[in-house]
Amino acid sequence: MKKIAFAILAAALVLSFGFAGCAKKGSGKVKIGVSMPTQSLQRWNQDGSNMKTQLEAAGYEVDLQFGGDNDIPTQINQIQNMIAGGVKAIVIAAIDGSSLTEVLKEAKSHNIPVISYDRLIMNSDAVSYYATFDNNLVGVMQGKFIEERLGLPAAEGPFNIELITGAPDDNNIIFFFGGAMSVLKPYIDSGKLVVKSGQIERAQCATPNWSTEEAQKRFENLIQTYNYRPGGTKLDAVLASNDSTANGVTNALVGAGWNKDNFPILTGQDCDKPSVKNMIAGTQTMSVFKDTRTLATKVVSMVDALMKGSNPEVNDTSTYNNGTGVIPSYLCEPVVVTTANYEEMLIKSGYYKAQDIQ
Ligand code: BGC
Repeated sequence: MKKIAFAILAAALVLSFGFAGCAKKGSGKVKIGVSMPTQSLQRWNQDGSNMKTQLEAAGYEVDLQFGGDNDIPTQINQIQNMIAGGVKAIVIAAIDGSSLTEVLKEAKSHNIPVISYDRLIMNSDAVSYYATFDNNLVGVMQGKFIEERLGLPAAEGPFNIELITGAPDDNNIIFFFGGAMSVLKPYIDSGKLVVKSGQIERAQCATPNWSTEEAQKRFENLIQTYNYRPGGTKLDAVLASNDSTANGVTNALVGAGWNKDNFPILTGQDCDKPSVKNMIAGTQTMSVFKDTRTLATKVVSMVDALMKGSNPEVNDTSTYNNGTGVIPSYLCEPVVVTTANYEEMLIKSGYYKAQDIQ
C-alpha cells in the first residue's frame, strides 16, 4: 500500500514539475509585437497599455516596446527582435514613417503581417492594414472651431493668427494641417485672417518630434518679432495641430502676459491631461478627443481577424497611399472637446478620473 502511495506521489511530482517546466518554456500563446514611438507623451503610454491589456484579454502574448524617446534606431532594433522572437503580427506606430522600409522587408519575408497604428508607415509593401482616427477631420474640426469662434463668415476682421503643426516625418501632419487649412486658407487669401509671420506652409510650421520645447521656442520668437502681447499686437487665434505643441504655445503666451481673460483661441488634439487642465484654466480653448481605447479595440479585432485567417473590417480604401499603393484603413471618429463637454467625454466615459485633471 505504501509503495503504491509513493508511486502515485512520485508520478504526481513528475507530472507537476513537467508541466511547470513546460509553462516556463513558453505560454503556448500566439505572440504579437506592439511597437510604440515614445513614452515621453501621455497618449503613447495609454495606447501601449490599452493594446497590451486588450490583446492579452483576447488570449495573445504581447511583446510591447517603446522606441526610447523617439529614437529611430531603437525602434528598428526592437522590431528586429520581435521578428527574431517569433511574433505572428506586428502593430507599429512609427516614429518616422519612412524609416522602416528595410526592417519590414524582414517581416514580409517571414510572412508577418504589419498593421500601421495611428501613423501611416510609408514606402513599404509589408503594411497590410492601417487603423487611425480620421486625421483630415481632426484638422477640419480645428479649422472650423476657429472659424466659428471668430465668426469668420460674417465678421469684418482682420484677425491675427499663427499656425503650428507637428513632426515633419509624421505623415499625419499632411492631413491635420491640410484639413485645417482647407477651412482657414480662403480667409487668409481674402485677408480676413492675417498671419504676420507669413509662415503658412506646412514645412514652416512643423515642430520636430512634436516637441513642446521647440513649439515654445518658435512662439517666443514670434512674440518677440511681432510684439504679440496684451497691449501690443493682438493675437486672435493659434492653430496648433496637437496638445504637445499647444502646451508650448500656452507657455510662451502666458510668459508674454496673456491670461484667461484675453487668451487667444488655441486648438489642440489628444485631450492630454496638461491640456485639459489648461482648458479648465482658460489657457487652451479646445482639444480633439481621440479615445485610444476605441483605436486599440479596432486594432485588436484586426489582429484577431488576421490570426484567424479572415479579413479585418475597413471603412476607407482610398485615402491612405503609402507610396506602394492604398493601404486599407479603418478610421475612428474624433470628437471636439471644450470645457462645455469634457466632463461627459472624459470623466463620465471613464477615460480619466476627476482627480487626474485637477
Ligand atoms: C498623433 C497625435 C499625436 C502626435 C504626437 C500623431 O501622429 O496622431 O495624436 O498628438 O502624433 O504624438
